[in-house]
Amino acid sequence: MASLPHIAEKDSEILDAQTHIWNHIFNFINSGSLKCAVELEIPDIIHKHGQPMTLTQLVNALPINNAKSTHLARLMRTLIHSGFFVNTKIPESQQGSEGYALAPPSILLLKDNPLSVRPFLLAMLDPILTQPWHNMSEWFRNDDPTPFDTVHGMTLWDYAGKEPKLNRTVNDAMASDARLVMHMVVKYCRVVFEGLNSVVDVGGGIGTAAKIIADAFPDLKCTVFDLPHVVHGIKGTKNLDYVGGDMFASIPPGDAILLKWILHDWNDEVSVKILKKCKESIPSKENGGKVIIIDMVVDNKTKDDKSIETKIFFDMLMMVLVSGRERAEKDWAKLFFEAGFSGYKIIPILGLRSLIEAYP
Ligand SMILES: C[S@@+](CC[C@H](N)C(=O)[O-])C[C@H]1O[C@@H](n2cnc3c(N)ncnc32)[C@H](O)[C@@H]1O
Repeated sequence: MASLPHIAEKDSEILDAQTHIWNHIFNFINSGSLKCAVELEIPDIIHKHGQPMTLTQLVNALPINNAKSTHLARLMRTLIHSGFFVNTKIPESQQGSEGYALAPPSILLLKDNPLSVRPFLLAMLDPILTQPWHNMSEWFRNDDPTPFDTVHGMTLWDYAGKEPKLNRTVNDAMASDARLVMHMVVKYCRVVFEGLNSVVDVGGGIGTAAKIIADAFPDLKCTVFDLPHVVHGIKGTKNLDYVGGDMFASIPPGDAILLKWILHDWNDEVSVKILKKCKESIPSKENGGKVIIIDMVVDNKTKDDKSIETKIFFDMLMMVLVSGRERAEKDWAKLFFEAGFSGYKIIPILGLRSLIEAYP
């Protein structure tokens, strides 16, 4: 066989550059393929089967056109490559056949898993939320607050207030995240709620986080405070109630205020306003008053490239959808100082996010 020509270093760099660019052009194929698998409920079907599934078994179990089986194999190859499935031996198979099984991240895609991130995935990949990414350069040239506004002519929160379907999609996404994070909080950060008589979850959505706190601390009075269209018609329980309103006008009083995934939605100026409003509603530090924040801290001893990249992605997400940002510790400290808080503590134990206490 004739030996291959030697490629000069400079040309080799050109070919590597092309690979790098093509890989980035088609990054969306990872999220598009994942969305397809979730919509077809492939993780649920493989999980219910109880052992690895052959391609034929999977095709037969899915509500798809059987003529598409070879295409399904291509989708599964992509998702094996991106770490959502594995190809593995089927136990007790006579012919030693292989089948598709779930890789660990797919456990969080299952519909029946109480900690499922499925609703978050479906919301973030909804065309209403992905369209603004195509208008980012236009937004850089105009004076709209966000690319979301450039496309839809209003803020995400106003759009959700007008469109019940988007309202549901966004609220379900937030609720799914609240289930996962609060599962960790009540397991590992109970001390944060000990000694409190009342807590107000500001921007608490449909109350998923507050319900988990109310169940874990039956003597703690919990209030969910969110925009009227979000909490409309939701019934409270013995130690949980719902109040509709605008956090920029006034916030119901409580020993502590919870701000989960709120401040990253807003720029610094608005975040300081929110924190000042919170400060008006809690007692002094000596009397146990505090604001409990669950959000990212961009530089909190990040473990790996994936965590760093995900935090950078979230910062872009906040810029494109809602005029917010993810913050480093120094940015958080500046916010607290400007809002008149005397100190803070960062507890970095929620994976990508931290629990931060700010003291009046
Ligand atoms: C990113 S979501 C977070 C929801 C919830 N805290 C969670 O993490 O699951 C932001 C929430 O802020 C609420 N929100 C937006 N503007 C608000 C306002 N002016 N007053 C009260 N809530 C508001 C939204 O309706 C939404 O539920």
